[in-house]
Amino acid sequence: MTTTPPGIERVLFTEEQVSARIEEVAAEITAKFRGRDLKLIGVLKGSVFFLTALARAIEIPVKIDFLAISSFGGNSGGPPGMVRIAKDLDEPIQDEDVLLVEDIVDTGFTTRYLLQTLAGRAPRSIAICTLLDRTVRRIVQVPVDFRCFELPDRFVVGCGLDHKQLYRNLGYIAVMDPEKS
Ligand code: IMP
Ligand code: MG
Repeated sequence: MTTTPPGIERVLFTEEQVSARIEEVAAEITAKFRGRDLKLIGVLKGSVFFLTALARAIEIPVKIDFLAISSFGGNSGGPPGMVRIAKDLDEPIQDEDVLLVEDIVDTGFTTRYLLQTLAGRAPRSIAICTLLDRTVRRIVQVPVDFRCFELPDRFVVGCGLDHKQLYRNLGYIAVMDPEKS
């Protein structure tokens, strides 16, 4: 996508910066998991763009599976941070080395819920990789093992992140003012 959408204030990370950083993190993952069978678990839909770029840059064979979550807290009526699995994994993860691949860890509620849910299925190990980490907004602590970028406290879109389901296909990550979009 090449035209700049309305509401975009500034580009935080260019497409080139994103690609270069994904290569670096993929090299860390390759080094850590060499000789093991790694399964990447993507959280739909936000992590799809990141997961595919990451998987192609990782230099060991990986398996891939996806789950989808839906929020029912906060703006949707319940207490904040409430999520449930809307589409589960296709395969079990028992005895596997699992890397949970997230678009963003913000308050941490989503990632903590997924971590606890997946840990209950007896994987051999479980680690977390996120494209974006906004630690300034963290409410519950989660162990982020691999991350590409730390974010300021501003709403962003691109590289899988959406505003009302749009702008996931931007190659860069940009600050957006939702009121101007
Ligand atoms: P959590 O607060 O860590 O549970 O993150 C919840 C979800 O909010 C993330 O998985 C994203 O889908 C979404 N989210 C958080 N911050 C942003 C943002 O800046 N842009 C787009 N989506 C976001
Ligand atoms: Mg997400």
